[in-house]
Amino acid sequence: MVYIEPGKVELRSIDFPVLALGGRRCDHGVVLKVVSTNICGSDQHMVRGRTTAPSGLVLGHEITGEVIEAGRDVEFLKVGDLVSVPFNIACGRCRNCKEGKTGICLNVNAARPGAAYGYVDMGGWIGGQAEYVMVPYADFNLLRFPDRDQALAKIKDLTCLSDIFPTGFHGAVTAGVGPGSVVYVAGAGPVGLACAASCHLLGAAVVIVGDRIPERLAQAASFGCETVDIAKAPVADQIEAIVGTPEVDSAVDCVGFEARGHGHDANHEVPAAVLNSLMEVTRAGGAIGIPGLYVTGDPGGIDEAAKLGNLSIRIGLGWAKSHAFVTGQCPVMRYHRQLMMAILHDKVQIAKAVNVEVITLDEAARGYRDFDKGAAKKFVLDPHGLVGVAS
Ligand SMILES: NC(=O)c1ccc[n+]([C@@H]2O[C@H](COP(=O)([O-])OP(=O)(O)OC[C@H]3O[C@@H](n4cnc5c(N)ncnc54)[C@H](O)[C@@H]3O)[C@@H](O)[C@H]2O)c1
Ligand SMILES: [Zn+2]
Ligand SMILES: [Zn+2]
Repeated sequence: MVYIEPGKVELRSIDFPVLALGGRRCDHGVVLKVVSTNICGSDQHMVRGRTTAPSGLVLGHEITGEVIEAGRDVEFLKVGDLVSVPFNIACGRCRNCKEGKTGICLNVNAARPGAAYGYVDMGGWIGGQAEYVMVPYADFNLLRFPDRDQALAKIKDLTCLSDIFPTGFHGAVTAGVGPGSVVYVAGAGPVGLACAASCHLLGAAVVIVGDRIPERLAQAASFGCETVDIAKAPVADQIEAIVGTPEVDSAVDCVGFEARGHGHDANHEVPAAVLNSLMEVTRAGGAIGIPGLYVTGDPGGIDEAAKLGNLSIRIGLGWAKSHAFVTGQCPVMRYHRQLMMAILHDKVQIAKAVNVEVITLDEAARGYRDFDKGAAKKFVLDPHGLVGVAS
């Protein structure tokens, strides 16, 4: 799947991946046959023309695959292994990787810390919404599933380990969610729903999810969340109606810079709306997790400031309430093994929570369109018919 221009993606033929990087052999890499690869809200920012993504970019950073070729220096993975690929590309050798901050590896992107497959500004790596893909530093990056048949039986859940499940979980953890927490999750897209499911896994008492799309709110309600329609009464009032106070212990931004305003503003974009509302509803001393994406260049920004990522954030309020903020790409590797175990032992139903729908690579353009319209679904592409067969 290739990004062509705003609103347009297309299936194109690309070269078969080789174990080479910048003219040198990539002996630490593997070639994967892609078992499943998901469409993400992050892809939508590019496809809507809201980033500086170049035409021709091969999309896809959420990848699960089978090792079909391993480089000479790959020691612990074998041909035939089924693996989850963290969307972050990390070298395992730099200072940040050694500190577990694999979302901001220093060696995989010449332009800035941090890299991902198939993503603007993220190092130019070829994306995995394809039949095959190359993964570097394979021993470090990949998570091997313990049993192939078991993995294929749960592949709709395990496919969420490459991004949204760890990302939602990271949002919850960095917002301080634990047993008995009252949490507000802004956004009922796949990341928001994965975050809400993560809050339950972490023992939250009340999980309130906000959005403006009724089908997405219904999806959140389907697994025990309370809901807030941001187009209606103020968020704080709706929270008060649910828990008796207008504040929560923890809040998570699963929306990002394309945020809509609240109330009458819900029909247009107010990029700082979520950040400001989370400061309003989070108790003094609480923490705010911000997995929602904010960019440094947005050709479609609402004004000159927003085009550079300068938003009108009321930092004075957050400061006065001693809020903690955690931003950035999720370091997937910090969580994926534990979340895999929770899936394999039926402690969480993540595919059900985000409503996974499996489609073929040929149907991907339709998946992008429906997802953009706000379908309450997580689209998973099945390039070789392996997921359809397994489920
Ligand atoms: N940090 C990371 O590592 C990471 C990883 C994956 C995705 N992301 C980002 O997370 C965000 C969510 O991803 P997604 O796939 O769920 O995207 P999505 O676009 O499907 O979901 C966003 C949802 O937010 C809703 N929304 C808009 N304004 C709102 C508001 N003011 N309050 C509440 N909800 C509002 C939208 O209606 C939509 O349903 C995106 O910005 C994506 O780029 C970050
Ligand atoms: Zn993603
Ligand atoms: Zn590194």
